[in-house]
Amino acid sequence: MAKKIPVSMTINGRLVEEMVEPRLLLIHFIREQLALTGTHIGCDTSHCGACTVDLDGMSVKSCTRFAVQADGSTITTIEGMAAPDGTLHALQEGFRMMHGLQCGFCTPGMIMRAHRLLQENPDPTEEEIRFGIAGNLCRCTGYQNIVKAIQYAAAKLNGTPFVEAAE
Ligand code: FES
Ligand code: FES
Repeated sequence: MAKKIPVSMTINGRLVEEMVEPRLLLIHFIREQLALTGTHIGCDTSHCGACTVDLDGMSVKSCTRFAVQADGSTITTIEGMAAPDGTLHALQEGFRMMHGLQCGFCTPGMIMRAHRLLQENPDPTEEEIRFGIAGNLCRCTGYQNIVKAIQYAAAKLNGTPFVEAAE
């Protein structure tokens, strides 16, 4: 077994200090060592985006990083999106209200990607949303309701009315 290395990072507002093997991927660290299983593993090709987390202001596929590379970083996972009293984030509410999921496997990664997208572009067009989530695959929904869910969240966060686009 390889020698373990100390890492520390802030995850969902909590300082985490752990020992990890150098080969441990960030996704396995998050899921198995920290038991934050909302972040999913959907492929072994860095393709699906189910493992997306927010890392130092960027959307990162956590299967593409070693945990040691995240040393000193600030990470938000899906578990950090709702308010401490359980109130859903606007994106979680949007996915619920607009039926933006079916099996739900892609949903945590999709929400984390959408979260960063709305930080970068608070009022995206439909085309910008589709481009923005292009690295996240959904096998079920056909994406239409995911786009609506993100539009719903953008309107809520901006305090503007949400007008559902005709299909
Ligand atoms: Fe598919 Fe990370 S698990 S991109
Ligand atoms: Fe099933 Fe997206 S809801 S993969």
